[in-house]
Amino acid sequence: MSNVYVLDHPLIQHKLTYIRKKETGTKDFRELVDEVATLMAFEITRDLPVEEVDIQTPVVDDAKAKVLSGKKVGLVPILRAGLGMVDGMVNMIPAAKIGHVGLYRDPETLKPVEYYVKMPSDISERELIVLDPMLATGGSAIEAIHSLKKRGAKQIRLMCLVAAPEGVRLMQEAHPDVDIYLAALDEKLDEKGYIVPGLGDAGDRLYGTK
Ligand code: URA
Repeated sequence: MSNVYVLDHPLIQHKLTYIRKKETGTKDFRELVDEVATLMAFEITRDLPVEEVDIQTPVVDDAKAKVLSGKKVGLVPILRAGLGMVDGMVNMIPAAKIGHVGLYRDPETLKPVEYYVKMPSDISERELIVLDPMLATGGSAIEAIHSLKKRGAKQIRLMCLVAAPEGVRLMQEAHPDVDIYLAALDEKLDEKGYIVPGLGDAGDRLYGTK
């Protein structure tokens, strides 16, 4: 799984354990997802290019320092669960622009259907990070990324908390150019499409809708 990065940081793993636990309530679940997104932001941006600049400090007039250079970042949460990862990312990348993609599953074809897309006008110039806590069958993320490419996106990464191997495989087939960043790669999907052991329905747990 060459373009899959499991962010095996102790803090991420510790917090993910509490996110998974069934007794974790909405408030804590939300806070933990937020915190893990912040920690993942740190890792997913590790290879962003930097350039050297000349600055003055209170001590010297000619210090060399580094700033981010090149492409700017765009965040694209997939509605609705992806919204839970936005604030955590924005803590680290405050200038990021944010696009949204909404998809629902057609009850007959079971295929994802786009119902809402609003993107920054310059997505072709941005390094886009698609946010969705769960990469289960891969259907929504694959469709969302098709939609971004159709609108001109060129550089896309996918960031999820938990993935199933089935979803990762389909994503790699559909979009081999998209690197995938995860907090955990789980065992499998069950017959209802839940990730095992997973964390349940991420949207319901974030928004207390169950
Ligand atoms: N979506 C979820 O929220 N949870 C799963 O386990 C699978 C898809």
